[in-house]
Amino acid sequence: MCGIIGFTGNIPAKDIIINGLEQLEYRGYDSAGIALLADGEITLRKRTGKVAELKKLCNSEELNATCGIGHTRWATHGGVTDTNAHPHRCGKVVLIHNGIIENYRELIVEYGLQDTIVSETDSEVVAALIDKFYEDDPYKAIKQVVKILSGAFALCIMFQDIPGKIFAIRNVSPMVATSCDKGSVIASDLTALIAFSKEYFVVPEYHILTLTDKGIDIKDLKGNEVKPKLLTVNWDITSAQKGGYPFFMLKEIYEQPDAIRNTVVPRISDGLPDFTEDEIDDAVFENCTNITVVACGTAMHAGMVGKQLIEKKLRIPVIVEIASEFRYKDPIIDEHTLTIVLSQSGETIDTLEALKLAKSKGSKVLSIVNVKGSTIARESDYVLYTHAGPEIAVASTKAYTVQVAAMYLITCKLGLVKGILTKKESKEFITKLMNTPNIIEETLKNANNIKRIANHIKLAPDAFYIGRGLDYVMSLEAALKLKEISYVHAEAYAAGELKHGTIALITENVPVIALATQEDVYAKVISNIREVKARGAYVVLISMDEEVHDDKICDKHIRIPKLDSEFTAFATAAILQLIAYYTSEAKGLDVDKPRNLAKSVTVE
Ligand code: AGP
Repeated sequence: MCGIIGFTGNIPAKDIIINGLEQLEYRGYDSAGIALLADGEITLRKRTGKVAELKKLCNSEELNATCGIGHTRWATHGGVTDTNAHPHRCGKVVLIHNGIIENYRELIVEYGLQDTIVSETDSEVVAALIDKFYEDDPYKAIKQVVKILSGAFALCIMFQDIPGKIFAIRNVSPMVATSCDKGSVIASDLTALIAFSKEYFVVPEYHILTLTDKGIDIKDLKGNEVKPKLLTVNWDITSAQKGGYPFFMLKEIYEQPDAIRNTVVPRISDGLPDFTEDEIDDAVFENCTNITVVACGTAMHAGMVGKQLIEKKLRIPVIVEIASEFRYKDPIIDEHTLTIVLSQSGETIDTLEALKLAKSKGSKVLSIVNVKGSTIARESDYVLYTHAGPEIAVASTKAYTVQVAAMYLITCKLGLVKGILTKKESKEFITKLMNTPNIIEETLKNANNIKRIANHIKLAPDAFYIGRGLDYVMSLEAALKLKEISYVHAEAYAAGELKHGTIALITENVPVIALATQEDVYAKVISNIREVKARGAYVVLISMDEEVHDDKICDKHIRIPKLDSEFTAFATAAILQLIAYYTSEAKGLDVDKPRNLAKSVTVE
């Protein structure tokens, strides 16, 4: 995915656009560019690398235009080069694009654009087509072009001969917009808008927006004026700033207690889960006989925690599917299946398509989403919004634990509605859930030996995470996190499975992070730890033990507070996130912007 921003108003646009790109950079950071429109001239600057490079390039120039567009790229079509960076210009048209134009090759041939196109991107084709169709009516040209595009797109377009105006249109790929006394602004997400106004709207699909310094005009493709539904942001600008932390990821790890409180507390009434405000009817839970969870990456791991809990506690079958696999496997679901979709961004294309497939098979879809008004939220039958606030670091932390908390709420509701849990049992469960923010706070306070452990892990080419049951599921997420931001290859193994092959990789000093927080399998995990220790592993044990003196078990011990086994996930998550964070930091990496990645994946 990419980040896009457009501003037109009564003050210079350059700094506004560059600042906006800095906010949006987590969406992609291969290259960045800006186009400014003034006095019938388009000034175009773009360059590979992070937004800071673009800023350096523009700093030396006096650019006083009050209308412009900017883009930060995550390469899909074509390598990371200055030419492939956006904006793309063809004739009178300059545009930025987020999404994928699937039929761009066919369009090049059909409209004879071979000699016009200079980049390898799908996006430039859109600029070339709009320029080709443009005579003097921008609506007409844009309308004609979007009708022949297939794929996802969010486009901001300027015409050299139309001063002070930005045109925009989208399909699937997100865009939000607002206007204020300084002018009108449009962007991929709220992080770039919040400096202007707390009121905004989600750009409706297949509507053409015209932004001017006076406001925003919206028309559908038949030319009818449309009034947008205004929404209010429920967080402030400080949420999208580092607030003294060296990286967003660390800040977001420490924000978890509040994020969970904000997600859980408003949904508790009289000690029991209450989804009235979310308009989720009890019948949704009454009528389902089985659950399918679909998501990607970390969000999927949150779903796996839910599966552990629901199956163990309620004995209701739960299948967790990787969204990209689910889409192409003709899944076995029907109207008795409740599909739970998890997504921080609400934009992940595989998750979105999986959702649509589940609906088409008659399943009701309940989504757990962090971004208000996002596509996944809008397409779902029911939405349980998590209230983590903006998550800027590419590595998901607080969004994950609030998703887990939401799965706990759903478990309790399901158990209660189906009569599997009594009111008393449910209240006890909710009391423990409400205490998890305090547990995370306590865990984070005692996490001071993690930096030393990270200094060992950073030297290793490979690391292993082992655990059983819930701890195995937590290990999967821990391994993803370590790989993603520290580039240490990591694998998660069900502790009992290691000896069926993988133990061959355990040699002197190989880090093995062993989770032993589950009472029923504690002794089994300890035996598995002895097996790796005997082969020279450097073992970090995470458990509730007060102290561990036996050096045959571990080299380092991280204690989590004493808890019921089913509630250890929150404390363990915080520890595992810090291990990944400090390893990345110790390697001197850009923790928030790991290589090759972007915050959410809007391409297949
Ligand atoms: C995790 O740290 C990742 N950034 C990634 O796995 C992420 O969770 C996944 O891409 C799903 O994103 P979503 O929650 O926005 O759908």
